[in-house]
Amino acid sequence: MSVLVTGGAGYIGSHVARILQQSGTNVVVVDDLSTGLDSRVLGLPTSHLELSTQGATSTLEALMTEHKVSAVVHLAALKQVGESVNKPEQYFLKNLGGQANLLTAMRNTGVKKLVFSSSAASYGVPDVDLVSEDQTPNPINPYGQTKLIGEWMASNAETAWGLSHVSLRYFNVAGAGWDDLADTQKLNLIPIVFAALKAGSKPKVFGNDYQTPDGSCIRDYVHVMDLAKAHVAALKYLDTDTRAHNVFNVGTGRGSSVVEVMDQIKTTTGIDFEYEMAPKRAGDPPSLIADVRRINNEMNWKSENGLAEIVESAWKAIS
Ligand code: WQD
Repeated sequence: MSVLVTGGAGYIGSHVARILQQSGTNVVVVDDLSTGLDSRVLGLPTSHLELSTQGATSTLEALMTEHKVSAVVHLAALKQVGESVNKPEQYFLKNLGGQANLLTAMRNTGVKKLVFSSSAASYGVPDVDLVSEDQTPNPINPYGQTKLIGEWMASNAETAWGLSHVSLRYFNVAGAGWDDLADTQKLNLIPIVFAALKAGSKPKVFGNDYQTPDGSCIRDYVHVMDLAKAHVAALKYLDTDTRAHNVFNVGTGRGSSVVEVMDQIKTTTGIDFEYEMAPKRAGDPPSLIADVRRINNEMNWKSENGLAEIVESAWKAIS
C-alpha cells in the first residue's frame, strides 16, 4: 500500500512526502517539475507528469496499480494569485483539468481516499477576524476559485462514487522542516524579505493604515512542518467512520502583523534593516486568522510552532 503525493517535489508537497515516508508509509510522487525540484524527492519513486495533459489519466492509473496506491494527497497546482488574474484559463485548465484527470484515475482504479490541498484564498475577504469553515466562501481571484471548485469536485466524487475526502484550507504557510526542502520561490512575505536582505534592498510593507493595532495586515502564519503533520492526521481521519466534516482550516489561530514579522526577522537574522512603507496591495484582507477548533477537536491536530520557529527555520534553510 502506498500514498501518491501530487506536487510532491514542491515546497509543501516535499514536506508531506518526507514526513509520510519517515512514518513508514510508502510514497509515490507525481510532479511536473514546473516549480518542484527533483532534489527534494531523491530516493522516492517519482513520475514527471503534468496532470492536465492528455494521457495523464492512463499514466496515473498505471502508477496507482503498480504501487498499490490506497490514498492520494493532491497538492499539484498553480498557486500565484496575481498570475491567476492575468491567466485565468491556465488556472482552470491546469488546476481543475488536472484534478478531473486525477479523480477519473482514482475512480477507475478504486482509490477512494483523497486529501486535497485547498486554501484560505477560498474565503476571499471575510468580514470577520477569526474565520471558521462555516464562513460562506467567496474567492476573489481565479486561484481561490479553483481551490473552492476543487473542494466541490471532491464532494461530487463522494456523492457519485463514494470518495472519502478532506480538504485542508491552508493559511499562510512558511518555514522549513528540513533545510533541503526550503521554499525557493520568492512569492510570499518571508522569502521576499529574505531575498531583499540578501540583495541589500529595503523590504516593503504593503499598507500602514489598516484597522489593525499597528496599521499593517495580519495573517495566520503556520509552520510547514505543522502543516505536513496535518496531512498525516487527515489521512488517519479518513480511516475513521465518525467523520463529521470534509473541510478544515489549517492555521495556528493566532495572527501576526507584517510589522511583527519584520521585527521577528530582525531578531532572528540579527540584521537591523529598515523597511519601506508601500501602498496597499489590491485585494488584501486587513486580517485573516484561522478558527482552528474544528481540526483541533476532530483530528486532534494542533500547530506546535510559532512565528519565531517559522522565521528561524526558514532563515537557517537558506543561509
Ligand atoms: C502576507 C502579508 C501582504 C509581501 C497568499 C495567497 C493565499 C495563500 C498564501 C496559497 C500580506 C504583506 C507581502 C511584501 C508585504 N497562497 N506583504 N510586503 O497574500 O496573505 O496569501 O499566500 O494558497 O492564497 O493569497 O500572503 O505572503 O503574499 O502576504 O507587506 O513584500 O504580507 O500584504 O498582508 P497572502 P503573502
